[in-house]
Amino acid sequence: MDNEWLISEAKKARENAYAPYSGFTVGAALLTKDGKIYRGCNIESSVFSPSLCAERVALAKAISEGEKDFVAIAIVGAPSGEAPVEPCYPCGVCRQVLSEHVDISAFAVVVEEEGEARVCTLADLLPRAFVFEK
Ligand code: THU
Repeated sequence: MDNEWLISEAKKARENAYAPYSGFTVGAALLTKDGKIYRGCNIESSVFSPSLCAERVALAKAISEGEKDFVAIAIVGAPSGEAPVEPCYPCGVCRQVLSEHVDISAFAVVVEEEGEARVCTLADLLPRAFVFEK
Protein backbone atom coordinates (compact mmCIF):
# COMPACT_ATOMS: atom_id res chain seq x y z
CA MET A 1 0.00 0.00 0.00
CA ASP A 2 1.21 3.46 -0.88
CA ASN A 3 0.40 5.78 2.00
CA GLU A 4 0.93 8.95 -0.02
CA TRP A 5 -1.51 7.72 -2.64
CA LEU A 6 -4.12 6.94 0.04
CA ILE A 7 -3.66 10.44 1.47
CA SER A 8 -4.18 11.92 -2.01
CA GLU A 9 -7.45 9.98 -2.27
CA ALA A 10 -8.55 11.43 1.08
CA LYS A 11 -7.74 14.91 -0.25
CA LYS A 12 -9.99 14.29 -3.25
CA ALA A 13 -12.77 13.17 -0.91
CA ARG A 14 -12.34 16.33 1.16
CA GLU A 15 -13.28 18.45 -1.86
CA ASN A 16 -16.88 17.24 -1.48
CA ALA A 17 -17.20 17.99 2.24
CA TYR A 18 -20.29 19.82 3.40
CA ALA A 19 -19.24 21.64 6.54
CA PRO A 20 -20.88 25.09 6.60
CA TYR A 21 -21.31 25.06 10.40
CA SER A 22 -17.86 24.11 11.66
CA GLY A 23 -15.99 25.33 8.60
CA PHE A 24 -13.70 22.30 9.02
CA THR A 25 -13.61 19.97 6.03
CA VAL A 26 -12.45 16.36 6.27
CA GLY A 27 -11.80 13.66 3.70
CA ALA A 28 -11.21 9.96 4.24
CA ALA A 29 -10.15 7.14 1.96
CA LEU A 30 -10.82 3.58 3.11
CA LEU A 31 -8.78 0.81 1.45
CA THR A 32 -10.14 -2.72 1.13
CA LYS A 33 -8.04 -5.88 1.06
CA ASP A 34 -8.60 -6.23 -2.70
CA GLY A 35 -7.44 -2.69 -3.38
CA LYS A 36 -10.73 -0.83 -3.69
CA ILE A 37 -11.07 2.66 -2.27
CA TYR A 38 -14.17 4.09 -0.64
CA ARG A 39 -14.03 7.84 -0.14
CA GLY A 40 -15.96 9.82 2.46
CA CYS A 41 -16.30 13.44 3.50
CA ASN A 42 -17.94 15.07 6.48
CA ILE A 43 -21.56 16.01 5.98
CA GLU A 44 -22.97 18.41 8.56
CA SER A 45 -26.55 19.29 9.42
CA SER A 46 -28.12 22.50 10.68
CA VAL A 47 -29.43 20.51 13.66
CA PHE A 48 -25.85 19.35 14.37
CA SER A 49 -26.37 15.93 15.94
CA PRO A 50 -27.00 14.11 12.63
CA SER A 51 -23.66 15.38 11.28
CA LEU A 52 -21.49 12.65 9.85
CA CYS A 53 -17.73 12.32 10.02
CA ALA A 54 -15.81 11.53 6.84
CA GLU A 55 -14.58 8.19 8.20
CA ARG A 56 -18.06 6.87 8.96
CA VAL A 57 -19.36 8.02 5.58
CA ALA A 58 -16.57 6.04 3.87
CA LEU A 59 -17.22 3.01 6.08
CA ALA A 60 -20.99 3.10 5.50
CA LYS A 61 -20.47 3.28 1.74
CA ALA A 62 -18.17 0.27 1.84
CA ILE A 63 -20.24 -1.86 4.23
CA SER A 64 -23.41 -1.16 2.28
CA GLU A 65 -21.69 -2.45 -0.86
CA GLY A 66 -20.83 -5.70 0.89
CA GLU A 67 -17.19 -5.00 1.72
CA LYS A 68 -15.86 -6.85 4.75
CA ASP A 69 -12.05 -6.74 4.64
CA PHE A 70 -10.37 -3.42 5.34
CA VAL A 71 -6.67 -2.65 5.37
CA ALA A 72 -6.29 1.07 6.05
CA ILE A 73 -7.91 4.47 6.20
CA ALA A 74 -6.31 7.82 5.35
CA ILE A 75 -7.74 11.01 6.81
CA VAL A 76 -7.06 14.68 6.10
CA GLY A 77 -8.80 17.67 7.61
CA ALA A 78 -8.37 21.42 7.89
CA PRO A 79 -10.37 24.63 7.92
CA SER A 80 -12.30 24.95 4.68
CA GLY A 81 -10.21 26.35 1.84
CA GLU A 82 -6.90 25.69 3.63
CA ALA A 83 -4.39 22.96 2.92
CA PRO A 84 -4.08 20.45 5.78
CA VAL A 85 -1.13 21.15 8.07
CA GLU A 86 -1.93 19.36 11.32
CA PRO A 87 -2.60 15.60 11.33
CA CYS A 88 -6.32 14.77 11.55
CA TYR A 89 -6.87 11.68 13.68
CA PRO A 90 -10.31 10.04 13.84
CA CYS A 91 -12.65 11.10 16.63
CA GLY A 92 -13.54 8.68 19.41
CA VAL A 93 -16.86 7.72 17.86
CA CYS A 94 -15.22 6.83 14.54
CA ARG A 95 -12.49 4.85 16.32
CA GLN A 96 -15.16 2.74 18.02
CA VAL A 97 -17.25 2.29 14.87
CA LEU A 98 -14.22 1.30 12.79
CA SER A 99 -13.07 -1.13 15.49
CA GLU A 100 -16.13 -3.30 14.93
CA HIS A 101 -15.23 -3.92 11.28
CA VAL A 102 -11.46 -4.36 11.27
CA ASP A 103 -8.65 -6.17 13.03
CA ILE A 104 -7.58 -3.20 15.13
CA SER A 105 -4.02 -4.40 15.63
CA ALA A 106 -3.45 -4.65 11.86
CA PHE A 107 -5.67 -1.88 10.47
CA ALA A 108 -3.57 1.18 9.55
CA VAL A 109 -4.61 4.77 10.19
CA VAL A 110 -2.74 7.13 7.89
CA VAL A 111 -2.60 10.87 8.54
CA GLU A 112 -0.46 13.63 7.12
CA GLU A 113 1.96 15.70 9.16
CA GLU A 114 4.17 18.36 7.60
CA GLY A 115 3.54 16.84 4.18
CA GLU A 116 4.55 13.33 5.25
CA ALA A 117 2.32 10.30 5.74
CA ARG A 118 2.32 9.01 9.32
CA VAL A 119 0.94 5.57 10.09
CA CYS A 120 -0.26 3.90 13.27
CA THR A 121 -2.69 1.08 13.99
CA LEU A 122 -6.23 1.53 15.20
CA ALA A 123 -5.19 -0.35 18.34
CA ASP A 124 -2.67 2.44 19.04
CA LEU A 125 -5.57 4.92 18.98
CA LEU A 126 -8.10 2.76 20.80
CA PRO A 127 -6.42 0.84 23.62
CA ARG A 128 -8.73 -1.40 25.65
CA ALA A 129 -11.48 -1.10 23.06
CA PHE A 130 -15.03 -1.83 24.10
CA VAL A 131 -16.14 -5.21 22.77
CA PHE A 132 -19.80 -6.19 22.97
CA GLU A 133 -20.12 -9.85 23.90
CA LYS A 134 -23.18 -11.20 22.11
N1 THU B 1 -14.75 15.40 11.62
C1 THU B 1 -14.56 14.35 10.78
O1 THU B 1 -15.21 14.25 9.73
N2 THU B 1 -13.63 13.42 11.12
C2 THU B 1 -12.81 13.51 12.19
O2 THU B 1 -12.00 12.62 12.42
C3 THU B 1 -12.89 14.65 13.09
C4 THU B 1 -14.03 15.57 12.87
C5 THU B 1 -15.71 16.44 11.24
C6 THU B 1 -16.95 16.51 12.09
C7 THU B 1 -17.37 17.95 11.86
O3 THU B 1 -18.11 18.01 10.65
C8 THU B 1 -16.06 18.69 11.67
O4 THU B 1 -15.10 17.71 11.34
C9 THU B 1 -15.60 19.47 12.89
O5 THU B 1 -15.57 18.66 14.01
